Amino acid sequence: MNSEQFIDSAGKMAMELAEITQNMDMSEESMLDLIGDSLLPVEQFFANYNCAIMEIETKFKVLNEQFSLKYDGNPIESIHSRVKDYDSIIRKVIRKNIPRDLQSIEEKINDIAGVRVVCSFVDDIYRLADCLLRQDDITLIRKKDYIKNPKPTGYRSLHLIVSVPIFLENEKKDVKVEVQLRTIAMDFWASLEHKMRYKKNISPEMLEKLSHELTDCAEISSSLDSRMQNVRNLILAENA
Ligand code: GTP
Ligand code: MG
Repeated sequence: MNSEQFIDSAGKMAMELAEITQNMDMSEESMLDLIGDSLLPVEQFFANYNCAIMEIETKFKVLNEQFSLKYDGNPIESIHSRVKDYDSIIRKVIRKNIPRDLQSIEEKINDIAGVRVVCSFVDDIYRLADCLLRQDDITLIRKKDYIKNPKPTGYRSLHLIVSVPIFLENEKKDVKVEVQLRTIAMDFWASLEHKMRYKKNISPEMLEKLSHELTDCAEISSSLDSRMQNVRNLILAENA
């Protein structure tokens, strides 16, 4: 979430609170105080995830620099990060029947902070993931390898749920981040598939046909990754 979206979300909550407090017998001043106090834990909640994203992004940027010295070229094409917006968090809380307090949300939702790392080659994904996980302040909570075991849709990526400490004014806090590592080809497929998945007015027969077609496209794009990896291996062997 960027700061604008965050202010939108916080604004929405403030409006909700203002509505609740409207019917109470309360001065404008105390109402604003109450709203400010109530929003503080929520602001801190989102700030923690933003900080954790900064930590993880920096780690990848450092590794990118390091790898570019050792191997020819940068292994990372791009990094995209986001904090899940307020609406999506609430939708997930309802869908998964999670108690509606910040602590439960923190405990049960793993993808509030998300960092997507797009790499050039499949090998780079595993190399970067290994280096990240070997860092002594990173704890691996869960790993899902959708490259070795693609989803039935054809989706491929390496997912890591990690926790990283952030250092606040008076405390150290471990914060969870979902890291998705994928190649350009995997990202290309996932982005287009994601866009099409939400298209409405498609008949069930057509949907079935399209999902086969998309799975097939995922296979083609995966074989492209393997061939590009082979080309790279040959070049590396030639220059060894
Ligand atoms: P969530 O509760 O939905 O986050 O599910 P989960 O905890 O089981 O996570 P999962 O391992 O399924 O990965 C979730 C994330 O991976 C999604 O938010 C997407 O970004 C991505 N993803 C998973 N499956 C697909 C897919 O079939 N297509 C696309 N485009 N993205 C996918
Ligand atoms: Mg998710």
